[in-house]
Order: sequence, then C-alpha cells, then structure tokens
Amino acid sequence: MKKLLILFFVIVAFVTIHAQSSNPEMDSFITDLMNKMTIDEKLGQLNLPVAGDIVTGQAQSSNIAERIKNGEVGGLFNVKGVEKIKEIQRVAVEESRLGIPLLFAMDVIHGYETAFPIPLGMAATWNMEAIEKSARIAAIEASADGIAWTFSPMVDISRDPRWGRFSEGSGEDPFLGGKIAKAMVYGYQGRPGIDLYSTNSHIMACVKHYALYGAGEGGRDYNTVDMSRIRMFNEYMYPYQAAIDAGVGSVMASFNEVDGIPATANKWLMTDVLRTQWGFNGFVVTDYTGITEMIDHGIGDLQTVSARALKAGIDMDMVSEGFKTLKQSLAEGKVTQEEIDTACRRILEAKYILGLFDDPYKFINPERAKNEIYTPEHRAIARQIATESFVLLKNENETLPLKKQGTIAVIGPLANTRSNMPGTWSVAVNLDVPATLIEGIQRVGGDNVNVLYAKGSHLVSDAAYEERATMFGRTLHRDQETRTDEEMLREALEIAKKSDVIVAALGESSEMSGESSSRTDLDIPDVQKTLLKELVKTGKPVVLVLFTGRPKTLVWEHQNVPSILNVWFGGTEAAYAIGDVLFGDVNPSGKMPATFPQNVGQIPLFYNHKNTGRPLAEGAWFEKFRSNYLDVTNDPLYPFGYGLSYTTFDYSDVRLSATEIDMNEYVTASVTVTNSGKRDGAEVVQLYIRDRVASVTRPVSELKGFEKVFLKAGESRTIDFKITPELLKFYNYDLEFVVEPGDFDVMVGGNSQEVKRARFTLK
Ligand code: NOJ
Repeated sequence: MKKLLILFFVIVAFVTIHAQSSNPEMDSFITDLMNKMTIDEKLGQLNLPVAGDIVTGQAQSSNIAERIKNGEVGGLFNVKGVEKIKEIQRVAVEESRLGIPLLFAMDVIHGYETAFPIPLGMAATWNMEAIEKSARIAAIEASADGIAWTFSPMVDISRDPRWGRFSEGSGEDPFLGGKIAKAMVYGYQGRPGIDLYSTNSHIMACVKHYALYGAGEGGRDYNTVDMSRIRMFNEYMYPYQAAIDAGVGSVMASFNEVDGIPATANKWLMTDVLRTQWGFNGFVVTDYTGITEMIDHGIGDLQTVSARALKAGIDMDMVSEGFKTLKQSLAEGKVTQEEIDTACRRILEAKYILGLFDDPYKFINPERAKNEIYTPEHRAIARQIATESFVLLKNENETLPLKKQGTIAVIGPLANTRSNMPGTWSVAVNLDVPATLIEGIQRVGGDNVNVLYAKGSHLVSDAAYEERATMFGRTLHRDQETRTDEEMLREALEIAKKSDVIVAALGESSEMSGESSSRTDLDIPDVQKTLLKELVKTGKPVVLVLFTGRPKTLVWEHQNVPSILNVWFGGTEAAYAIGDVLFGDVNPSGKMPATFPQNVGQIPLFYNHKNTGRPLAEGAWFEKFRSNYLDVTNDPLYPFGYGLSYTTFDYSDVRLSATEIDMNEYVTASVTVTNSGKRDGAEVVQLYIRDRVASVTRPVSELKGFEKVFLKAGESRTIDFKITPELLKFYNYDLEFVVEPGDFDVMVGGNSQEVKRARFTLK
C-alpha cells in the first residue's frame, strides 16, 4: 500500500512538474482556441494595460471595457475589489467574441490586507517556514479578492543600500536569497507534485526583476548595470534560478540593461539562459513600460523595440501598448507568426493552468472576500512573524527588555503614524488600520505603563524632501504642524524628563525606501539625529527603535545609544510586535540579511567579497600598499548575519566527520550551540565556506547553510551541516558549473564574522 502511495505521488509530481510542457489536453484545447483567433485577438492576449480608475458598478462603461470586449486585453493589474473584478471578468467572458478570461494581477509583495514585514525584514527572520506561510496567507487573501497572479517574489541581490528597492529584496546573499525565492513561490503557487495550483487560493507567482536590477550604478534606481558574466552567475543569478526550479509560473524582465542590451530585448537573457539553460516554460512579462523605455535607452522606435522584445522572448507587454505594432512587423516580415503564436500560447497556458478556462470566476468569490481577508488568525501570524524580523543591534546594561511599569516617553516622528507602519509596496493595505507605535506599546505594556508622547522633530528639515518621502497616502502631517523643529524638541525634552525610559521612534518613513527612493545619505535624517543626541544627553536610558528599509549608517548611534532595535517596516501588526519584543514577551532573533556599512563611502561593502592580491590582515587597519582606506577600517558596522538576543549563545569548536573526502563523499560539520543566558531564545546557526584555491578567484566566505534553532535557557543542541561536493560548485571562467578539488575552510557561527573554523580537503 505504502509503495503504491509513493508511486502515485511520483506520478502526480511528474505530471504537475511537466504540466506546462507536456499536457496534451491543454495543448489541444489551446490549439483549437488559437485556430479561432484573429491576429488582433492574439496580440490582445499579450497586452497588459493600466486598468485606469474603474469604479464598481461602472466597469461596463469604463474605457477599458470597450477594449476588453474587442479582445484587446490579456489581463489587468492593481485593480482592488472583488465586485469590480467580477464585473470586468464578466465583460471579458460574456461580451468578447471568444470569451477568454482575463488574468488579474497585483503587486502583492509582502501580504495583501494583512501585511507582513517588508521583504528585507522577512529575510531577517531566516525562517523559511514563516516566509512560505506569509506568501500562503498573501495568496489566500489576494485570491479571495479576485487576484490570480502576483508580481512577487522580488529576488534581486543588491550590495548597494543607496538603492531604495533594497527594501523589496532579500539582501546581499544569493544562497539566502535563493532559499527565500523558493519558499515564496511555494507559498503562492503550492509545491509541484503536492499542491501546485490545487485550490482557488493558489495563485501564480512572478519572479522579478530578471536580471541584475539590484546592481544599478551608484544605487540609483533604473540605472545602468554592467558586470562580468562570471560575477552574474556566481553572485546574482541563483535566486532567479531557484524560483524557476521551484516552478514559478512567470518572470518579469528588469528595466536595466545587461551587457549593453536592455533586459527586455536581451535574447541571451530571456531565451538562452532562461529557457534553454534553466528550462523555464512559463511566460515572461515586461516591467511597467519596459518596452517604450527602450526608446529612451536608444535602441529604436516603438515598432523596433516591440519586435526586439518579442524576438528576445518577451510574451506580455505591461503598459507600453507596443505589441500592437507587431501586426505591422509581421506584415513587413520583421517578426514571424510563430513568434507571436508562441507568446500567445504561453499566456493561454498560464490561464489554463490556473483553471480560468474551467471557471473564470475561480478566484472571484465575494463570500471568500468577506471571510478570508485580514482575519484575526492571519493577523496573529503576521504579528508573530514580525517579531522574528526585528534585529537587536545593541543592548547595553540590559536596557531591554522594558519593564511593564513606570513611565515611557515615546518620542519621534514615526511614533504616531499608522500609514507608515506596513512599509513600502503594501498596495492592498487599508492604511487606517495599523496601530501606531504608541498604541502598540500601551497595549502590550498594559495598565501599569504610563505612555507619554511627543513628536520631537519632523522627518527631515526640508519640507519638500519630506513630501517626496511620504507619498501614496503615507503623510506624516507636516502640513498641519505649525511648530518649528526647535519647539518640537523642547516639548520632547520636557516629556523625556518625566519618564523612566525613552523609546525613540526614528529613521525612515516607509516611502523613503522602495521604488524610485534612492538616497545618497544613509544616516538617520538631520533633525531626527539632533533630537536623538538631545535625548541621550538627558541621561535617561534610551532605546532607539529604528525604522528603515535598507542598511543604514549608524556609527554615532552605536557608540552613544544604549539600545538599538532595528524593526524595518513590520507590516500591519508591527506596532504590537514591537511591543512584544520591547517588553520581552518575545526574545528577538532576527539576523542581518545585509551588511551595515560604517559610512556611505564604503559601499559596496559585502561579506562575500574577494580577497584581492593585497588583502589587509584580519583585525588590522591601515597598512600602506594594502587594499584599505586612509580614513576608515574595512570593517562593517554590523556584519551580514549579525543580530543579538536577550540571551547569549555559545558555540563549540567545529567537528568534521572527515578531513579528506573524495568527489563521491561528503563531510558533516557539527557544532554544539548552548543557550548560555537566562532566557529562552532562538539562534540562527550559520555555515560559511571558503574555497582556498581554485582556477578563478573565490570569495573569502560564502553562506552555504543555516538553521534556526530554539533553545531553552541552559539547553544545548548539536547542529549538523552536510557539505557535499555539489554544495561547493561554482561557475568557472568558461561558465561551467564545477567543483574543483582542494582545501576548503568551514566556518560556523552566529554571524559571518564571529565563526569557529575547520578545514578539509576534497580530493
Ligand atoms: C514597476 C515595478 O518595477 C514592478 O516591481 C512592479 O511589479 C510593476 N511596476 C507593477 O506595478
């Protein structure tokens, strides 16, 4: 019986994995349908226009409805509201000639109405189960509201925190990024062979932005990217590939150029690598106006760039309306019928796989929308996950956790805002619902805590800058604030005097990171820093609750503020979660998914760098004719993988099962980790590897494994990491994925710098 069951699952797995490539029933259904389609209707399927302002009850008469009836639209995105979506779908199914259902998409990036921490914060949990769960809940809520396709996960590796979209990714490491990509895809779509698209709450994911979008020059959004292929493959590509291996249904092209050709027209990227090398068989959509932007990139007019995009392997045009010109290109022999048919088939396949031809209303169910969105259960999970995303950067004299008694002064421009709590890219969230930090602290602290509040300062001194940094309804109400920063500071100091402890809620507003929010200065903004300095001067214990969408420069804060809790933007439940951690109901366990530099001049600063021919000795500072700076050490302020707890963890030496292995063997590296403090807590045990000698230069350290373990006070656990030759593979000069014999350092610890070491030889 057991054997039969296993056989059954193997067959199901095979069938689902190959669903897109070999499903005769689907193939013949689509062939029949395509035989009935005109060229215009085929091009219509490739078109993803802006929905415009569709008002419920009036979808029928909206401008877009006409186009849907004419078969000019394949899908719509960022329309919110199940009734609206139902109406629009009805127009497509009942009033267009062939009744092909539309694909409704949205940027469901870190949750739908129940928002989880921003992706960078999710990465700081290092908890793949939690990440998958968050995507699962996002899919349940989004699908209940009519959404079948999400533009997530965003897996762009970045080493430049000046880039605003650092907040949307998983940080600087491809191994961690790849694991997260997989977990997200599974959460949205289900797992191949188990539950892929198996219910009306499994939606299609879209991995983005392929490729290298996080490597724009100077950290400026949309900027030029230029890097060697060996770097691409060893350091940037893995997360995209991991999403594809997990079965992701769609890919979004990035805005940037790769090797001198915009990704959107880059055939090598979209076809040779994506399809031929990696075996992707879903569809590729451009990013927003990705096709028209190629006119500004300087590679041709709309007709030319549209043809180039199609020929490169793009299937769907988001917003540009450029694919309309393909009809003329076809007539002029510039594209082929086969190229158009291939793209059209891929879009129809996606709709088929999602089950839209069986039931166009599969994801449109007003009953579900009432019962499954922003539920107490989802909110409780979001709160718990948010607590895991916070990173304790410093905690002198056990300033934290706070006592649930006495007077707490909550001060800062981010203390009393709802709309800034969820974080950037939370389009479906109702911005009035998140609790403010003041409310969160009061709720968790209880009746014996007296909470006082003062704003203390504006977000930044420059009002125009503040306006740019508080768009999309995330205002901090500066317009209603008639006081000067000096007056606000005076009030804050009065309140601080009356308190036992100060919680300073400072940092970035939510729109200071995210798309088109690059910055050159990564300090806490000017007026806030003045406020913080004055608060520290009072001599009261100060806890800095740092809101940020990126690594920041915090040297002064690290040297002068007793306690720093980095909370990123924690989603709709952030305020309560921050309360949970501040008062010690939850012990913080987040770890940095990216390096925090000492200053902007060090950027790019990342842990997995090369050694160079003139490395600086470990722990040294300046040495003439070595690779270093005159004015600052090479060290980060906080290294990758770093994060404190209210307890402490001790690591034993690393024990290896063997010091010499063959290509067909593996080594087990073991460490015993002990919770040596007084509180229960979780630790992320991290495994790093260094390939000592190879045919090409290799990084000084590479994450190759991690495990998050919960240990009671005093408890010890042995963690085993299996190191196989496969795990040691890299792309060589000829871009072959190889493992080469030689010596390997094994490093295990609680962050990328403080590690225990051992070495083995691969023969
Ligand atoms: C542009 C962004 O780059 C992309 O991430 C997003 O999915 C699209 N706009 C659609 O909103």
